[in-house]
Amino acid sequence: MKRTVLTAFALIFALSAEASATELLPAVPPIPADNTMTSEKVELGKMLFFDPRLSSTGAVSCASCHNPAFAFTDRLPLALGHKHQAGPRNTPTVLNSAFLTSQFWDGRAATLEEQALGPVQAEVEMNETLENMVRKLKAIPAYAERFKQVFGGKDPVTPENTAKAMAAFERTLITTNSPFDRFLMGDEGAISADAKKGWELFRNKGCTACHNGPNFTNGGFFRIQVPGSTDLGRFEVTGNEDDKYKFRVQTLRNVALTYPYFNNGSVASLSDAVKIMSREMLGVQATDKEAALITEFLRTLTGEMPRVDVPVLP
Ligand code: HEC
Ligand code: HEC
Repeated sequence: MKRTVLTAFALIFALSAEASATELLPAVPPIPADNTMTSEKVELGKMLFFDPRLSSTGAVSCASCHNPAFAFTDRLPLALGHKHQAGPRNTPTVLNSAFLTSQFWDGRAATLEEQALGPVQAEVEMNETLENMVRKLKAIPAYAERFKQVFGGKDPVTPENTAKAMAAFERTLITTNSPFDRFLMGDEGAISADAKKGWELFRNKGCTACHNGPNFTNGGFFRIQVPGSTDLGRFEVTGNEDDKYKFRVQTLRNVALTYPYFNNGSVASLSDAVKIMSREMLGVQATDKEAALITEFLRTLTGEMPRVDVPVLP
């Protein structure tokens, strides 16, 4: 009897782990009640995302670092912003960031809305004050008009509305229909035999303990010191000793395109990143063969890129 109960538990555990590890990426992310998505708002957000006039020099836009041609990253170890200064961290992709439960490597912003004004003001990113940003936007009649259309009210060009529009645009950057999603939907031929072996290893080794759910992250924070890093991570947000060197679990969607890897961009090759993860997080060495198979699986997480026509700015 005891045995059957145990087996039943094991089965339920296995099934639930399986279920959480194998969710399709939905086409529509969670949308907050106070920032509904309209096509006008998304279009305005896209314009702002591509507009370098949000920066103090007029030279740096969100898209400078989150470049659509590089899967919304910059392919640099550390981000280069205001006056080409290197920031302290690697640029993560904004693809599927709408599914994240917190933003930034250390999770210091809860939502995309909260995140969006950070880079505008960061000295090493766009180095602009919100007052100046609003003043410049108001001086461009086409923007004043669009803000009015989208948000209404007497004084619609505000930092809050700017953030809302950019967040609405970011929520359209979803990469559905990857080979892995097609495989999950029953298309056995969508991924190679090696990728299937890699998927099995990924689960059996325990990568899915942290990289699970539709976006392959459980949103948790874990201690990791990647090569060359002295970054205190989550500790800088909470001040808890316990949070030293902890970082948010990264999404693995489109990971084949978002190199170099880790919070300091110190690792260029995906199979090296896999080996480091296996050693650091699971305490086991992955062989070259295993790393190659897992890498083959990770490549199947590259989805269809959202179509983003570069806006013509006023
Ligand atoms: C100079 C390069 C640069 C610019 C410009 C920039 N970003 Fe970023 N972005 C980064 C870096 C670096 C991080 C990670 C910073 C950290 O975790 O401390 C980041 C993080 C993010 C994240 C969080 C993603 C995640 O996985 O947690 C979002 C969303 C984002 N940026 C959107 C924007 C928007 C919107 C703009 C324009 C208003 C912008 N970024 C401008 C480099 C840049
Ligand atoms: C205990 C939780 C945990 C486990 C288990 C885990 N990871 Fe991670 N993973 C993380 C965290 C946290 C990060 C972000 C690290 C950083 O700050 O650079 C990450 C980052 C990554 C990255 C780099 C992503 C990027 O864009 O820079 C890859 C690739 C990766 N993990 C693959 C794996 C593989 C493969 C396994 C299994 C062998 C695994 N992970 C197991 C927590 C985990």
